[in-house]
Amino acid sequence: MHVGVLTGGGDCSGLDAVLRALVLALTERHGLRVSGIRQGFLGLLEDRVEPLDAARLRPLLMEGGTLLGSHNRANPFAYFGAGGADCSARALDCLQRHGIEALVVVGGDGTMAIAERFARLGVPVLGLPKTIDNDLLHNERSIGFDSAVQVVAEALERLGTTARSHGRLLLLETMGRTAGWLALEGGLAGGADLILLPELGFDPARLAQRCEDLLARQGFGLVCVAEGAARAEALIAPLTERLGPGVELRAMVLGHLQRGGRPTPFDRVLASRLGVLGAAMVARREFGQLLSWQGQACVPLALAEVVGRARLVPPEHELVQTARGLGALLD
Ligand code: F6P
Repeated sequence: MHVGVLTGGGDCSGLDAVLRALVLALTERHGLRVSGIRQGFLGLLEDRVEPLDAARLRPLLMEGGTLLGSHNRANPFAYFGAGGADCSARALDCLQRHGIEALVVVGGDGTMAIAERFARLGVPVLGLPKTIDNDLLHNERSIGFDSAVQVVAEALERLGTTARSHGRLLLLETMGRTAGWLALEGGLAGGADLILLPELGFDPARLAQRCEDLLARQGFGLVCVAEGAARAEALIAPLTERLGPGVELRAMVLGHLQRGGRPTPFDRVLASRLGVLGAAMVARREFGQLLSWQGQACVPLALAEVVGRARLVPPEHELVQTARGLGALLD
């Protein structure tokens, strides 16, 4: 069998680690041929396909980024390069021309939605989960999330010392789109005084009051803001209005730092497990599924079950209760 592999959506740490495990297992353990498709689905639309062997990937366990490149707007069913037209036939033609009989896609919800449509068209496809947002439905841990949590935690740790030194209120904005997982776990790990989650919303007057309490109690404050809850910069003016000009406020957007750099050991191991078990599924011709991570194990799920909506933080989740117990939520 000839297998095509791609990484789609926004990049993150651990992509080379999963490619490495997948390609090593597909080629050396199962004797299959593998091609890499460059820049996600764009590679199928623009015919960017190249042979991929284990030797190229073997040293890349600890690398950031993706050897294959990625793209977060290249949807063959609504291709930006053709004015939003459905170019899926062009992608199918590319697969056929290269003799690719099965696809493994590493990605988040956008990539899985495309994979699911190809599966419905009869393409044998397997999905592997990655996203720093950790918002793939029914999937408890995605490749890249743990590494991003570490970046948020370290940023908060560093900001905490300068907040304390200057007696300032510092706001750190994390990524995560509509989900608060990254702000929640990163905020807990980095000791944020307050965490703002999109799932819980917030009252600006209550935020100002809690910040005032923090300043009175400890002389400084560290607030971790999920991008889906608010833009940190936009909070400065209303907070200054309520707290007065004497309070020094600074906002920082952590941005793409959360997606770059070396994967944590957890992400290296998760990527290796998903890659090796995913290769075994391909060899057994088990397609149309996402190999998810649930309850400390790799669990296959039908692609149709994981597309259509994001996995948000349930308001009564144990991590939310933990944050509440620490006084890090507004309520
Ligand atoms: O989905 C991953 C993610 O990093 C989000 O957290 C963020 O909102 C978005 O992608 C940023 O996208 P871009 O790299 O296009 O700016």
